[in-house]
Amino acid sequence: MATKFMTMPSRQPRNLVLFLISIRIMFGLSHAVGEWQAISEEEDMEMERQLSVINKPPIMSFETEFGDILDCIDIYKQHAFDHPLLKDHIVQTSPKNLPKSEGESPRLLPENIKCPPGSVLIKRTTKQDLIMANRLKPSGLNHPHQVPMEPKKGYAFATARYYSHNFGARTIMNVWRPEVASDQASLASLWIANGPLDKLNVLQAGWVVEPLLFSSNYTRLYTHWTVDNYKTTGCVNYLCPGFVQVHREITLGIVLNQISVYKGKQVDIEIAILRDGEWWLKLYNQFIGYWPQKLFYYMYGGANYVMWGGHVISPSNKPSPAMGNGHFPRDYNSSAYFKQTQIWDNVHLVYPLSDRLEPVMTVPACYYAAVIDGIAPGGSANLYYVAECGRRIEQKRN
Ligand SMILES: *[C@@H]1O[C@H](CO)[C@@H](O)[C@H](O)[C@H]1NC(C)=O
Ligand SMILES: *[C@@H]1O[C@H](CO)[C@@H](O)[C@H](O)[C@H]1NC(C)=O
Repeated sequence: MATKFMTMPSRQPRNLVLFLISIRIMFGLSHAVGEWQAISEEEDMEMERQLSVINKPPIMSFETEFGDILDCIDIYKQHAFDHPLLKDHIVQTSPKNLPKSEGESPRLLPENIKCPPGSVLIKRTTKQDLIMANRLKPSGLNHPHQVPMEPKKGYAFATARYYSHNFGARTIMNVWRPEVASDQASLASLWIANGPLDKLNVLQAGWVVEPLLFSSNYTRLYTHWTVDNYKTTGCVNYLCPGFVQVHREITLGIVLNQISVYKGKQVDIEIAILRDGEWWLKLYNQFIGYWPQKLFYYMYGGANYVMWGGHVISPSNKPSPAMGNGHFPRDYNSSAYFKQTQIWDNVHLVYPLSDRLEPVMTVPACYYAAVIDGIAPGGSANLYYVAECGRRIEQKRN
């Protein structure tokens, strides 16, 4: 199945252009998430207990200029191994068969932030993070991160999807810091999925601006996984046991402080989810860690679905936020984008077949995706997205 791609090497994939039109629509849920009561003493104690489980005793700690605490944790003692399925898990320190990528990784944190051998860098979960994560759930908004398949109130997405057997994918996306209200989120992500809808196994990575989850409006490196379509299993980053961190200098949740400039310098991150025994997360040319295959019942034989694009959440009756940089891609190079997205077939990274790349949008009048031919050289599948509502919607193409 996987070799199918390799038999069609000269195929020129089209570029997927994702127009993202922030018409400031309201697609709110009936009740806003805003009015929460103060937490009780018991809740507070319960929260402290949960925090003591999530945050293992650090070997050393750093504080960043953004107020995050980053801990060095014994690699064998990290929260991941609290998962019942990972009791006897043997830690992998690096993948065995994955290609090393060319190019350098820009430094995301100051040089002095480096954990000693045998330990890994993990962003500490704060009480605020936990309060938010806990309280998002009953509101029906335990994540803005559903796999974009069906329209859902309070959410909008504009993405490209690709049904195909795979063992992961990689993409290059530019980094933005869309303005969002305190209860909104805007993210750009790569999704890998398989399984029946109610047991959908999903791995997801990209960037997000989500004040509810991180108590700040910075753009952050973000992942999410689930094995039941986000109902009860899985979580963002390290909030629950699952993701095994191996890197000593980069942590999930890190602030991506270099932001692209509209019509100026573009700041890209290269992100990949690649299976080699486990499901590895790669940022630029660095392996950050992995989600153990054992957690993903429906992904033993690989995944069958890849998706990439933008996603916004707007639970209350406020104008919805922008995706990406909020600009329409007049020249197809002034907007947010995904470039050179490739599918990992377990041996090679291959470009998707253009005629099977499908743009999917829930609110096309406002967040628009389209496949455009012949923009980028070298046969890369690029996806641009933007927000510039109404005014230029007539330019949309299919
Ligand atoms: C982030 O939040 C601060 C404080 O609430 C606000 O002043 C600033 O404009 C926000 N920035 C963005 C990009 O949303
Ligand atoms: C990208 O934008 C620059 C500046 O706006 C323009 O000169 C150039 O032709 C554009 N390239 C493409 C491929 O549209």
